[in-house]
Amino acid sequence: MKIKKERKRKYISHSALFSYQEASDKIIIYAIKTGDSYSDRITKMDVELSALLNLPLEEKIDRPAVCEYHYFLKRPKRLNVISNTLAEVNESLNINLGYGVIYEPVKTPHILIAGGTGSGKSIFISYLLLEFLKQNSSVYIIDPKNSDLGSLSHYIGEERVATTANNIARVVRLAVTEMKERYDYMNKNFKYGSNFSDHGYKPIWVIFDEMGAFQASGTDKQSKAVVGEVMDGIKQIILLGRQAGVFILIAAQQMRSEILSTDLRDNLGLRISLGSNSAEGYRMVFGSATPETIPPIEVKGSGLLYMQGSGKESAQYWESPFVDMQNFDFITELKKYC
Ligand SMILES: Nc1ncnc2c1ncn2[C@@H]1O[C@H](COP(=O)(O)OP(=O)(O)O)[C@@H](O)[C@H]1O
Ligand SMILES: [Mg+2]
Repeated sequence: MKIKKERKRKYISHSALFSYQEASDKIIIYAIKTGDSYSDRITKMDVELSALLNLPLEEKIDRPAVCEYHYFLKRPKRLNVISNTLAEVNESLNINLGYGVIYEPVKTPHILIAGGTGSGKSIFISYLLLEFLKQNSSVYIIDPKNSDLGSLSHYIGEERVATTANNIARVVRLAVTEMKERYDYMNKNFKYGSNFSDHGYKPIWVIFDEMGAFQASGTDKQSKAVVGEVMDGIKQIILLGRQAGVFILIAAQQMRSEILSTDLRDNLGLRISLGSNSAEGYRMVFGSATPETIPPIEVKGSGLLYMQGSGKESAQYWESPFVDMQNFDFITELKKYC
């Protein structure tokens, strides 16, 4: 008697459901959560999908019923900084940061830059400094370690550059006084819905490098009082500076909450972490805007960037403007504007 061999059958009992939509500059993959065992896994596929499409992730938005992966169809272009023979003028209030990012200080005031040694902080700050000057901004520089930026006093002016605690306090006082004078003037000449530029004012930028090192210098009663006074001034600028056009750029190797409270940090509109950082390090810069999966950060001068009001839920990969040190002399450029 012949026994009929039973054929094996395969059933699909679970499946993951995806759909997609293509826009001019990006493709969005929707991973639809159906409540089965895949629902969790399909929210963690940033890297796999990126490899499949060979495209960089722009952002991921995890909604209750669907997880959206946005991939750039074209990799955004890194800005290449080149030297122009003549001084440039930027009449707008915006600054091009490259890689598809335009920064508008009036909308999202103040900048935070965190990154370890060699991550590209100094180069990026130098780039920004030139951009501020192209807008005719006045600039104050605070460099408690008296390194790269401190040496710019010859060009920017002794009274605008501070490296010692007492000088730092003086510079911050100057900036706060200017801010208050602007407020007084603008109140007396009130124009509804106006800001500093409607009153003919140019931006004022306070560049504060190595804020962590400055705070560590408060060791005895007297120096602690100076640190306290400076931080009080910084706080006023962070909270009140926007309308008057007084902006601050804070750079630190690590952004611990002892350096700047998370409340104040959240008032810094543009936040950047350069180089790769620890999970805790990212959280200290971005707070709730820390991305779940961190893309590989290998290129010199690259990192993550978060800009408030940009519509993005979390920090995204970004490459700072590329400066070819062989062909770009920062001091030569600076002299065109000072
Ligand atoms: N945007 C950039 N363009 C070109 N090279 C960069 C850039 N950012 C960083 N680098 C390279 O990394 C080195 C360290 O950068 P730097 O700005 O001095 O770091 P940090 O101030 O964070 O210690 C630079 O000397 C340069 O070789
Ligand atoms: Mg540096």
